[in-house]
Amino acid sequence: MPAVSFQQVSKTYPTPRGDLHALQSVSFDIEEGEFFGLLGPNGAGKTTLISVLAGLARASSGRVLVHGSDVQSDYANARRRLGVVPQELVFDPFFNVREALRIQSGYFGMQRNDAWIDELLDGLGLADKATANMRQLSGGMKRRVLIAQALVHKPSVIVLDEPTAGVDVELRQTLWQFVSDLNKSRGSTVLLTTHYLEEAEALCGRIAMLKQGRVVALESTSALLARAASNVLRFKTDAALPIDLAVQARITGRVVQLPANDALAVERILARLREVGVSPEDIEIRKADLEDVFLDLTGNGGRPGPVPLPGETPPDAGAADTVTGVGARNA
Ligand SMILES: Nc1ncnc2c1ncn2[C@@H]1O[C@H](COP(=O)(O)OP(=O)(O)OP(=O)(O)O)[C@@H](O)[C@H]1O
Ligand SMILES: [Mg+2]
Repeated sequence: MPAVSFQQVSKTYPTPRGDLHALQSVSFDIEEGEFFGLLGPNGAGKTTLISVLAGLARASSGRVLVHGSDVQSDYANARRRLGVVPQELVFDPFFNVREALRIQSGYFGMQRNDAWIDELLDGLGLADKATANMRQLSGGMKRRVLIAQALVHKPSVIVLDEPTAGVDVELRQTLWQFVSDLNKSRGSTVLLTTHYLEEAEALCGRIAMLKQGRVVALESTSALLARAASNVLRFKTDAALPIDLAVQARITGRVVQLPANDALAVERILARLREVGVSPEDIEIRKADLEDVFLDLTGNGGRPGPVPLPGETPPDAGAADTVTGVGARNA
């Protein structure tokens, strides 16, 4: 039985300008023990999907099961299995950290939970803040408490909605260490959304990419990476590129990146540049990464235009033209 099963999930929001289709027939399963990545540009529907999973929003159609329990008709059982770290920082200002965690334990009927609370405080670097009031914590510390709160009832499925947005390097490492341990040693299932593609690449065994509420890719991380052009030629120039190169390029200011799988492709590009009188500077060849696949699938790949900095989301450019690797359910 899958840990999480999304079955034809659609979510429509009525807006003054007509219906907004935040999710359109999203179907995929996450197996027990998977470390699963949910990626997509801003507004793709990631948080909406997680809200439906957590029972915070109601799907317009379709259903979601957590270990076989329907998140609507069997809410209590589904919710008990889930630990959700929300994208937004929400907290109760009246309690200190330990109290907040005890109260959260109470919601799940766990009375004597202090041993696990201590483990969470230690693991997330909060031990010295146990008696600090929530108001006295920095943003990053509040995020640690939110993570502890999500884990306090020992959920088997951990859902993290951009847990590392605006978080320093140290917390990021602490967090990944902690969550990876839970995934490996306890077999917890993890569903992660992030805009840090190198994070997804390092942690997730399988990835779904959403675009405009639809699944545009669903594959193992290695299969996704294998689909990218294997090498990228990168150089700097102030000159305009000829159109035949420009249509394949990712251009960020002076930096141009072009897919170039082999020596012949590199030679061709350089010859073409010489032909039109463009002299490239700082030439290098790098291995393609998840960002290249992501940009291809979410719209900006192969088009001239701004390329996001690490951690930014690519601008959304046009509709998906292909759906790849999506399992039988979605086909
Ligand atoms: N309560 C709401 N009412 C109307 N529209 C909404 C509501 N919540 C979300 N949306 C819309 O649904 C779409 C998906 O939003 P969602 O928050 O799921 O995106 P996301 O993938 O999580 O983006 P981000 O990377 O920015 O967090 C967006 O167009 C958003 O404006
Ligand atoms: Mg979101």
